[in-house]
Amino acid sequence: MSYEVYKLIHILSIIVFFGCLGAAIIGGHYKQHEKIITGVSSLLILVGGMGLMARIGIKHGAIWPTWLIVKGVVWLTLSALAPILAKRLGRSVFVFYVFVTLAALAAYMAISKPF
Ligand code: HEM
Repeated sequence: MSYEVYKLIHILSIIVFFGCLGAAIIGGHYKQHEKIITGVSSLLILVGGMGLMARIGIKHGAIWPTWLIVKGVVWLTLSALAPILAKRLGRSVFVFYVFVTLAALAAYMAISKPF
């Protein structure tokens, strides 16, 4: 698949993931359907990201640049922690803004590649 297709998968999954997670944490409602949507979209963020890596020339097994490691850590943190927080905390506007900040950090890493 092309760079453009992987990017579409990546961005669309990010929109769905944060849309659903944001609604869950603001609304204090994290049930079966939200779990499925965040789980599937989180996986698709990774699939799109891996495809993009291949398309921009990061070889399989090569050492990841730091900007990519930061994105990977943000993804892992959100994918593992967000569902637990959403379920345990119920409604939390503060955690919503933490999610927004992490999303901004991951996006900034890809856009500016500061290191
Ligand atoms: C929640 C987590 C993530 C967010 C919010 C995010 C956000 C973004 C955004 C907005 C772009 C487009 C940048 C641009 O067009 O200039 C992008 C590109 C990219 N992302 Fe992610 N991303 C996330 C996770 C990941 C993960 C886990 C990986 C790796 C497995 C990854 C790898 C990439 C790559 C390789 C690009 C292409 C960079 C380029 O075209 O130069 N991303 N990401």
